Amino acid sequence: MSKAAPSFTCTACGATSRKWAGRCEACGAWNSIVEEAPLSSGPKGPTARGRSIALTDLSTEEAPPPRAASGIAEFDRVLGGGLVPASAILVGGDPGIGKSTLLLQAAASFARKGLSVIYISGEEASAQVRMRAQRLGLAEAPVKLGAETALRDILTTLDTERPGLAILDSIQTLWLDTVEAAPGSVSQVRASVHELVTFAKRRGVSVILVGHVTKDGQIAGPRVVEHMVDTVLYFEGERGHQFRILRAVKNRFGPADEIGVFEMTGNGLQEVSNPSALFLSARDAPAPGSAVFAGIEGTRPVLTEIQALVAPSTLGTPRRTVVGLDSGRLSTILAVLESRVGIPFTGLDVFLNVAGGLKVSEPAADLAVAAALLSAREDVAIPPDMVLFGEISLSGALRPVSQTENRLKEAAKLGFTQAALPAGSKHGADAGLRLREMADLTAFTGEMFGA
Ligand code: TYD
Ligand code: MG
Repeated sequence: MSKAAPSFTCTACGATSRKWAGRCEACGAWNSIVEEAPLSSGPKGPTARGRSIALTDLSTEEAPPPRAASGIAEFDRVLGGGLVPASAILVGGDPGIGKSTLLLQAAASFARKGLSVIYISGEEASAQVRMRAQRLGLAEAPVKLGAETALRDILTTLDTERPGLAILDSIQTLWLDTVEAAPGSVSQVRASVHELVTFAKRRGVSVILVGHVTKDGQIAGPRVVEHMVDTVLYFEGERGHQFRILRAVKNRFGPADEIGVFEMTGNGLQEVSNPSALFLSARDAPAPGSAVFAGIEGTRPVLTEIQALVAPSTLGTPRRTVVGLDSGRLSTILAVLESRVGIPFTGLDVFLNVAGGLKVSEPAADLAVAAALLSAREDVAIPPDMVLFGEISLSGALRPVSQTENRLKEAAKLGFTQAALPAGSKHGADAGLRLREMADLTAFTGEMFGA
C-alpha cells in the first residue's frame, strides 16, 4: 500500500489540496496553506471488524435513552427537546458574545437535574470560572470544574470521572501531543475534536464544544469540525443590543433553524419566552418606513419590525445598507419594484434594518420589506395594527408561504387586527384578523399607497 500522501489545508477556509501553494485557490487568501500530518495511514489489509445489521433486526424493545432536559426551555428547544445521550454539539460565536456564560448556566441546570457535568475551561482558571458562577448565582451547583488544555489529560479525566456531559471551552485551546502544530491551527483543532468525539461516543459521554468564530463568520479554521459533530449551534447578537439568539444550523436530532432567545443582563442570560413581544416592545409611534413582519423561526412564529429609510443620495452609486437581511434579496426587491410596479429608487440611498438584532432569512419577509421601502419612499405610514408576509416573485406576483395560520394567530395574540398576505394563502381560520389578500405588488401598492 502506498505511503499516505501529504495533505495541505488552508487555515482560512479549510479547503484541502495535494500540493502547497502561496495562495489558496478556494478563498484567495495568501500564505494560509499549511501541511497537515495524516490522521492515520489507513488499514493494512482486510480486517474482521465492520459488520452490518438489518434495520429490521434492530430491537425495538430497547428504547433509546431519554433526552436530558436542562430546564432552560430556550436552550432545550434549540437542541430539539433536550440533550441526546452521547451526542456531540458545537457552539460557535464571536468572542465575548456570551458562550461561556450560557454554557456555565446550562451546566449548572443540567447538574441540578441530576446529570453529572464537568466543565473544562482552557481559557480561564478554575478560580475564575468559580467567580463567574458566583456572579451568576450558581456557586452551589454540583458541577465539576477543570482547567486543562492537553487532550490526553482531558481524556484521562473523562475516563475516570465518566460524566454524562462534558463541556469544553474552547476547541481553539486544545492540543494533542501527536500533532506538530500550534493550538488553534486547523490540524490541531481537527485532530483534537476527532479524538474527543470518538472517545465520547464510545464512552457514552455527551460533549459540548465551544468554538470561536473568526471575523468572516467561520468557526476559526475548521469548518471541518462541523461535520464531526451531531449538532451545530451559533450564538449570535448585535453589539449594543442585549438580545442573544442561539440558532441551530445543523441538528441530527431536531429541526435546524430553531432559535432560542436570551437577554444578557447583569447577572447572566435570561430566557425570553415570548420573542415577538420583545422584538416589538421598543417600537416607536407609527412612522413611515416601518412594517411588521409575521415570520416563522424554526417551529415558532416571531413578529419583527422591518425598518427602512430612503433618502436622496449625494453619491454616484447610491448606498444600499442592510442589517439582518440578505443584501441580494434587497436588490431583487428594488429591481422588481422598479420594473414591475414602476417605482424607481435611482438616486436614493436605501437603509434597511431588522429591529432588535434578529437575522431574517425567510423569503416570506419580501412583502414586509417592500412595504417598508415603499412606506419610507412615499412617506406614508403602514397602519400600526397590520402585519405583512408573502414572497415576491420576479414577475411581481405575491406567492403564498407556509404556516399562514400560525403567523395570523401570533399576530392576533399580540393585538394586531389586520394582515396583508398573498391571495390564495392556505389557512383554516383568520384568527379574528381582517385579511387583505393581494395577488401582486401592483394590487398591494394600489391599496396601500394609492400609487
Ligand atoms: P462570555 O461568556 O465570557 O463570552 P464568550 O465566552 O463568548 O467569549 O461573556 C462575556 C460578556 O458577557 C462580557 O462582555 C460581559 C458580559 N456579561 C454580562 O453582561 N453579564 C454577566 O452576568 C456575565 C457573566 C457576563
Ligand atoms: Mg469564553
